Amino acid sequence: MAFTVAIDGPAGAGKSTVARKAAIALGFTYIDTGAMYRTIALQVLEQGMDPEEAEAVTQVAQQSQIVLSPLDTDGNQTVFVRGRDVTKEIRTPEVSQMTSRISATPQVRTVMVELQRSISRESPYGVVLEGRDIGTVVFPHADVKVFLTASAEERAQRRYHELLGKGVEIRFETVLAEQIERDQRDSQRVASPLKIAEDSHYLMTDGLSIEQVVEQIIALCVEKGYRAEGSMSS
Ligand code: DC
Repeated sequence: MAFTVAIDGPAGAGKSTVARKAAIALGFTYIDTGAMYRTIALQVLEQGMDPEEAEAVTQVAQQSQIVLSPLDTDGNQTVFVRGRDVTKEIRTPEVSQMTSRISATPQVRTVMVELQRSISRESPYGVVLEGRDIGTVVFPHADVKVFLTASAEERAQRRYHELLGKGVEIRFETVLAEQIERDQRDSQRVASPLKIAEDSHYLMTDGLSIEQVVEQIIALCVEKGYRAEGSMSS
């Protein structure tokens, strides 16, 4: 099994930026598991389906043919569903809310977890997976497990500025309220709720730069035996 890095944590903790940078630095495959769940939510919305119809939603998951491209040098990943590029469509607030709902369905999770494991098996050097249940369910024996978080206010502030930057008009209070709602649903669901694996490294990122967080993750990988290609091993 390739070297596996599991990064879990709540929405807005900076997981995505950190996981992408770490994957590039390590030369590993990056797997954005949230993006995978998002593709199912997008199709549920587009087809006007009832998200509570577990069987129908699971069928969508089984037929999705999700492909995640390798990261480009800027850390961008393109997401495909049956050959269609859905990278932008899966990032709307509607899709975010719907994803939080459909990801609570155990059968959907089973399909996604299997796909995450098979992509990882095919990765030659190593993988960085980012999500909610990576260190607890998908890879409980991951080489490095990190639980990345930040205070609710800090996370909502980051998200708020990100949305403002994209020209979205929204109040900070709305962002904070939506995030608290999503956090609650993600951590209280019965199937694979967001929780901290006993052996994961808890990283509170308030006041830390992205680079500092990435450095800590790389250091943990080195501690666990990762050696950069071409470096001298002792
Ligand atoms: O990381 P993200 O914001 O793209 O995740 C979107 C939603 O998917 C979020 O509500 C939690 C859910 N999710 C999950 O249940 N399990 C994962 N491994 C990844 C995401």
